[in-house]
Amino acid sequence: MQPLSGGVSSQILRIDLDTRSMCAKRALARLRVDTDWQVPVERNEYEYCWLQTVARINADAVPGVYGRDAESGWFAMQYLPPEQYPCWKQELREGRVDVRFAAHVGDCLGAIHAATAGRSDLAERFASDRIFDAIRLSPYLESTALAHPDLAHVIRKLIETTAQTRVALVHGDVSPKNLLVGESGPVFIDAECAWYGDPAFDLAFCLNHLLLKCVWVPQAVAALSDSYRRLYAAYRSRVTWEPVAALERRAARLLPALALARIDGKSTVEYLTATADIERVRHFARGLLTEPCIQIEHVLECWRSEVTP
Ligand SMILES: Nc1ncnc2c1ncn2[C@@H]1O[C@H](COP(=O)(O)OP(=O)(O)O)[C@@H](O)[C@H]1O
Ligand SMILES: [Mg+2]
Repeated sequence: MQPLSGGVSSQILRIDLDTRSMCAKRALARLRVDTDWQVPVERNEYEYCWLQTVARINADAVPGVYGRDAESGWFAMQYLPPEQYPCWKQELREGRVDVRFAAHVGDCLGAIHAATAGRSDLAERFASDRIFDAIRLSPYLESTALAHPDLAHVIRKLIETTAQTRVALVHGDVSPKNLLVGESGPVFIDAECAWYGDPAFDLAFCLNHLLLKCVWVPQAVAALSDSYRRLYAAYRSRVTWEPVAALERRAARLLPALALARIDGKSTVEYLTATADIERVRHFARGLLTEPCIQIEHVLECWRSEVTP
């Protein structure tokens, strides 16, 4: 057995057997971050159930799971070697921005949401509202509201809308670091924020990462912008469960709040360090929170004109 590095919230091991390798994961009660951030360990069970549920929708989009021991809180899944399944974040970092892959992510995510929308059994199974609040709404959005008292009412309204929208099965951490580039498309890992809630959260969370990556990998701004557009276009064509404009409005409103959360919330991105960059992102996000736009494309235009021309 050897520990795998990279995560902050779990213990994760590679286990080599005679015939194959597996990966085992268990949740930590206190995240390995500078601030004190405690989250219930039952999230490991939700992660396991999310992987099982999605395997039935698209088996290529997740590592296969082998089993879980409730008492110790460990589950075992297929080990996906990084040589064959590189991490999308690393690919982007190195300037390898494949817009078709981004579209594929949008397509898979939309398909997962479409297949799980309106399912009362899943709503009951993933009633993890308390965990989602502790791991997402509170550290990202409530802490940002506290840092920006003049915008607190707007941000708290977004928290309320998100918390009350129970529409489809949400992954909750759709970030390039949790997507592996598989031969037959994206593989989603790290579903411990799984929650039956607002699919707009997943969409906005992932698009926000593509915006922020423009600051990190400035030579790839054009391809990253294209990825943002293609991801949304593919996702959009899967939206069957509600009018697409309603979903788009919620995602477009969440986007600036999530961008602000990554500089002034509890979980800041490690690559935004230059004061000038931070100021530009803050200005962009505050502007859109004050005067919201309702289209994903307009958020990008605003980003391009204010942050990364
Ligand atoms: N099934 C897997 N096969 C191979 N590597 C994995 C697998 N699951 C996770 N990893 C590796 O371990 C890292 C941390 O796992 P992750 O589930 O994202 O945990 P955390 O919640 O701590 O971020 C990942 O970034 C990846 O490098
Ligand atoms: Mg992770």
